[in-house]
Amino acid sequence: MNKLTSGLAAALLLGVAPVFAQAPAEAPAQKMDHGGMDHGKMDHGDMHGAKGDHQMGDHKMGDGGYHHRFEDAEKWAKQFDKPERDAWQKPEQAIDAMKLTPNATIADVGAGTGYFSARIAKRVPQGKVYAADIEQDMVRYLGERAKREGMTNIVPVQAAPDSANLPEPVDVILLVDAYHHIGNRVDYFKKLQNSLKPGGKLVIIDFRMENADGPPKEHRVSIEKATDELKSAGYSLVETQDFLPRQYFAVFKKSGA
Ligand SMILES: C[S@@+](CC[C@H](N)C(=O)[O-])C[C@H]1O[C@@H](n2cnc3c(N)ncnc32)[C@H](O)[C@@H]1O
Repeated sequence: MNKLTSGLAAALLLGVAPVFAQAPAEAPAQKMDHGGMDHGKMDHGDMHGAKGDHQMGDHKMGDGGYHHRFEDAEKWAKQFDKPERDAWQKPEQAIDAMKLTPNATIADVGAGTGYFSARIAKRVPQGKVYAADIEQDMVRYLGERAKREGMTNIVPVQAAPDSANLPEPVDVILLVDAYHHIGNRVDYFKKLQNSLKPGGKLVIIDFRMENADGPPKEHRVSIEKATDELKSAGYSLVETQDFLPRQYFAVFKKSGA
């Protein structure tokens, strides 16, 4: 069984229906050799393994996205879900700032191991969280985590490089430390407008340029650059908040909405 069929089988066994809106992304074109990867170097207290990223191999595809693989979800879970993250990530405050209603539908794009999806699911008991990721192993993990933690309103979604593959329009699309990984962002987010309900919000949380922690600075996307790109994609910046010590928190809406 390959990874896809085993992930699908696991999801079916677990009773969680993953969404494959189109042929799931083969490991993105930038599939790389992890022969030299040293996971011991990943533990730098950030979300990307800091120097570890470079040792894992960075991939510039010329499409503006910072591409590297997030295989082996269990290993990444140790990084993404470590309790110390809460102190600077302030997830509950971040979710408060999204002003969700209990029946809201949210898409967590680049959901990783579900750090935000799991917390949001509890805030929208009558709603739904589409937890989308490009990595098949993350999608498998998200389904297993949802089952393990009894979160029936999380739906794992297999994203593709050019589409989040959301099955229906949602109230909020969230990207936490994922915006800078997306390639061809203007086209990507133009298309993503179709997945946002009228009046819906796009929330971007990503590392500030000046912060010591985070992905390599050359791969970060400042809030100014994100705002310009998203303007070209048809969005307007409607709100920013400064409560996160390492990241910006920015809310966009479809222009004219
Ligand atoms: C740094 S992690 C952040 C995970 C999660 N949002 C969190 O805050 O814990 C970035 C995630 O984005 C995913 N990703 C990268 N490119 C993507 C794309 N084009 N579409 C969806 N997910 C993507 C990666 O597989 C990875 O799981």
